[in-house]
Amino acid sequence: MTTEDLARVEARKPSVRPNNPRFSSGPCAKPPAFALEKLSGAPLGRSHRAAVGKDRLKAAIDGTRAVLNIPGDYRIGIVPASDTGAVEMAMWTMLGERRCEMLAWESFGAGWVTDAVKQLKLDAEVKTAEYGEIVDLSTVDTDNDVVFTWNGTTSGVRVPHGDWIKADRAGLTICDATSAAFAQDLPWDKLDVTTFSWQKVLGGEAAHGMIVLSPRAVERLESYTPAWPLPKIFRLTKGGKLIEGIFKGETINTPSMLAVEDYLLALDWAQSVGGLAGLMDRADANAGVIADFCAENDWIANLAEDPATRSNTSVCLKFTDPGITDGAAFAKAVAKRLEAEGVAYDIGAYRDAPPGLRIWCGGTVETSDIQALMPWIEWTYHAERAAL
Ligand SMILES: Cc1ncc(COP(=O)(O)O)c(C=O)c1O
Repeated sequence: MTTEDLARVEARKPSVRPNNPRFSSGPCAKPPAFALEKLSGAPLGRSHRAAVGKDRLKAAIDGTRAVLNIPGDYRIGIVPASDTGAVEMAMWTMLGERRCEMLAWESFGAGWVTDAVKQLKLDAEVKTAEYGEIVDLSTVDTDNDVVFTWNGTTSGVRVPHGDWIKADRAGLTICDATSAAFAQDLPWDKLDVTTFSWQKVLGGEAAHGMIVLSPRAVERLESYTPAWPLPKIFRLTKGGKLIEGIFKGETINTPSMLAVEDYLLALDWAQSVGGLAGLMDRADANAGVIADFCAENDWIANLAEDPATRSNTSVCLKFTDPGITDGAAFAKAVAKRLEAEGVAYDIGAYRDAPPGLRIWCGGTVETSDIQALMPWIEWTYHAERAAL
């Protein structure tokens, strides 16, 4: 670019920056109400098995049930190793009893497929779709066990509804809902195992996973013993009976009480914005700003082909300008410039996904910040285009 070109680009720079440039898809932005001092009541240096610790863990379980409207007869447990730990725990304890379908349309789902096929060595039926698309859910037989991701964080493609899951199914549905829970309506009657982590939609800390079990999942755990050995951190039963304590806050191993306190703060904030309905509205409004922006600009588009499958949390975008020859280099340069300007952190597409941007729209992100970001994306696109 010539000096004049540079001057012209600088002159068009937007004047308003997002207040919070944190648009990462995990760990996600802390709730607007967050302040470190608010965690000072955490029972640090105390045993998590003492009443004070157990009460906080139980409050985390009860608060989760309240915000997510989880049925009273579903068990909710806090387990090790974040969402990954919770998904692995479900697969290793429950799969193998019957035929299994593994569905994937992005990187994390693909990881669960690998574990089922290569580690557990299950003769699973694998159904995959390219980034931006979704598996034909009408082909899924829920008399088989089914493992799937509700919201594909790395493609921004989500399951539109649970109609494809039979009410009277014989199999279990095992759903990684980590970037959907607290932003999308999860049909609990259709989900037997649901997992998520605190670091995603509520902007909590990465450490622990949540596992939600339907009565049918508990039945499976109590009636089926897998052929493979189970490490202690996956074990949910003892002597063929569910370890009920896990679902009252008696965690399998030691949790971080600081992370628990942080999650409780996030749950309180969630209630203050109207609970699940309020969280969904916030995410919808955020994603709506980006949808409008894409509709107004012919050089950028949502990676998700079908509008019904477009995520309202991990919104993935691609540059569609045919003049861009090296898409990966272009998207990287845009993300880098936005970060250097202090306008948006961590919005490059996931490493295994097609090149582009990924903007987190979960409820902890303020709509005014997404609005402020859009002119910056436009400016950066033109600046990088001019530099080609
Ligand atoms: C769909 C999905 N599954 C699993 C994970 C892994 O989550 P964690 O790192 O909390 O275990 C992520 C993280 O981004 C994810 O998006």
